[in-house]
Amino acid sequence: MMNELYIDLGDIFASLPEYPVFKEGIRRAPKREFTLTKDETELALKNALRYVPQEWHNVLAPEFLNELLTLGRIYGYRFRPTGELMGHPIDEYEGKTIEGKAFQVMIDNNLDFEIALYPYELVTYGETGRVLQNWMQYHLVKEYLKRMNDTQTLVLLSGHPLGLFASKKDAPRVILTNGLMIGQFNDANNWNRAAALGVASYGQMTAGGWMYIGPQGIVHGTYSTLLNAGRSKLGIKEDKNLNGKLFVSSGLGGMSGAQGKAAIISGAASIIAEVDYSRIETRYSQGWVTTIAKNEKDAFEQAHKAMEDNEPIAIAYHGNIVSLLEYAVKENIYIDLLSDQTSCHAVYEGGYCPVGISFEERTQLLSSDKETFIKLVNEGLVRHYKAIKEITNKGTYFFDYGNSFMKAIYDAGVTEICANGRDDLDGFIWPSYVEDIMGPLLFDYGYGPFRWVCLSRSDEDLRKTDQAAMDAIDKNRRFQDLDNYNWIKDAEKNKLVVGTKARILYQDAYGRLKIALKFNEMVRNKDVGPIMLGRDHHDTGGTDSPFRETANIKDGSNVMSEMATHVALGNASRGMSLVALHNGGGVGISKAINGG
Ligand SMILES: NC(=O)c1ccc[n+]([C@@H]2O[C@H](COP(=O)([O-])OP(=O)(O)OC[C@H]3O[C@@H](n4cnc5c(N)ncnc54)[C@H](O)[C@@H]3O)[C@@H](O)[C@H]2O)c1
Repeated sequence: MMNELYIDLGDIFASLPEYPVFKEGIRRAPKREFTLTKDETELALKNALRYVPQEWHNVLAPEFLNELLTLGRIYGYRFRPTGELMGHPIDEYEGKTIEGKAFQVMIDNNLDFEIALYPYELVTYGETGRVLQNWMQYHLVKEYLKRMNDTQTLVLLSGHPLGLFASKKDAPRVILTNGLMIGQFNDANNWNRAAALGVASYGQMTAGGWMYIGPQGIVHGTYSTLLNAGRSKLGIKEDKNLNGKLFVSSGLGGMSGAQGKAAIISGAASIIAEVDYSRIETRYSQGWVTTIAKNEKDAFEQAHKAMEDNEPIAIAYHGNIVSLLEYAVKENIYIDLLSDQTSCHAVYEGGYCPVGISFEERTQLLSSDKETFIKLVNEGLVRHYKAIKEITNKGTYFFDYGNSFMKAIYDAGVTEICANGRDDLDGFIWPSYVEDIMGPLLFDYGYGPFRWVCLSRSDEDLRKTDQAAMDAIDKNRRFQDLDNYNWIKDAEKNKLVVGTKARILYQDAYGRLKIALKFNEMVRNKDVGPIMLGRDHHDTGGTDSPFRETANIKDGSNVMSEMATHVALGNASRGMSLVALHNGGGVGISKAINGG
């Protein structure tokens, strides 16, 4: 027992590993805010060194200090495994339990070069959403998952493994929290301090919950959002798609990268602005964007041609969304659906690139002159707001896509964006996509997202599970069922998989039960290998987020975070294999609690 609770890296490495060579062309995280005093810097070093044997401290202390001073965080690069990481077939992992092996698959999948936003910094998506804080934790957690038996539970605090605790066979195998802070300190400055000290990690939703399945995870939701926005705001009939309609947004990153693909599946012409050319290249090489526009004029011309031909298209525009929208205003171009998916939950940490500077200049400015950077972000947000205001005045439907965009505009000083014209207590003038679209048309009926992973990494297993799910859906019950049926029918053709062979699907409780029982039968009969089912944090009830999931909730409980907390507690008491509770999620620290 003691042996299981106390492990350090000396138990894993006989000697200190070589310092790694970083692969060229892999995106690297910008410098994070660093404001620690000398004493706090020492504490941060001690916190990182606690994972490694004393005899290595002389070598590692200066190395960790250098990481802290130059990058704002200690990542422990030396301990990153050499080469590329990926979620291998489950049989290739060691462990006493299937859950312990499955979680190792998912941790590695979240850190795959093909998937992760900043793989060397353990960031999976959303600018700051991390699997764990550092590479020392990576090895320790994997070691615990190998040693864990089926009457033990691994407990983690913001990536820091507390150890294995005696539990029961039907208890969770892992319980983890990310970034939960005491209310008094629950703000961006204290958060940055705690993260630099090494005691807080930003889990986003599925990054720190180890259930990220690539941007596919959000394609289904984005497809449903666009289609239903078309139905409820543009008068599109239930059996029709978005052919001939124009959708404009920004971001081709981790989650936002789903927008072009989802627009194509829903039949729309779309233009997505992205400042970072490497992300455009990634989505283009995956076939998730159809073409790259030369400039604003070319982008709109290509979109209009596709609309005339009733053809779907996903056009990447390399540049700032504000420039694209200001061009549309100047040229009086009509847009049907408009949104934004820049990382406004981390707006001053690099998530939002100010108009007027390039992506490279943004990275430089972020580390050299944070004050000027913040000023430019605020100016950009104000221009962004004005452009949207002009566009919506002509009838365009704008929705906030759950990235804290309107809150960022408010924080930049625009009180006009508040519903009450004064403060953010009553929400904002434009709706959140949950409040206006997903809530009334899906969540209110009990439809929410869940996902499964074929742990064998076999295409054939995924095909069989797709078929089983399709067979379980009664497509004639409601239009939502038909959408879900069509989604799964075309899922393979739409080439949605990046990384592990996984699938996302919206279903209600009855649909899920049917599918789960069928999967159980298939696994029992050895028709397929092991399947891992995951609840999505975005599922009905999983998130308290006053500008998104719980926006404008009728009884004023938008200021409470008890529903999401109960989801996590309930999951734990019912024996879900992994239970996670996070602060921040998709909208930023202190602005949401999500459990799943
Ligand atoms: N609606 C949802 O269900 C949902 C789900 C997941 C994430 N989110 C939120 O959406 C946001 C995006 O998530 P992500 O994982 O794609 O983050 P990301 O950081 O990987 O991608 C955001 C992209 O926006 C680009 N960008 C930033 N400023 C820009 C600008 N002014 N013009 C054009 N491009 C710009 C960045 O270069 C980046 O590629 C986050 O705030 C996230 O929390 C929403």
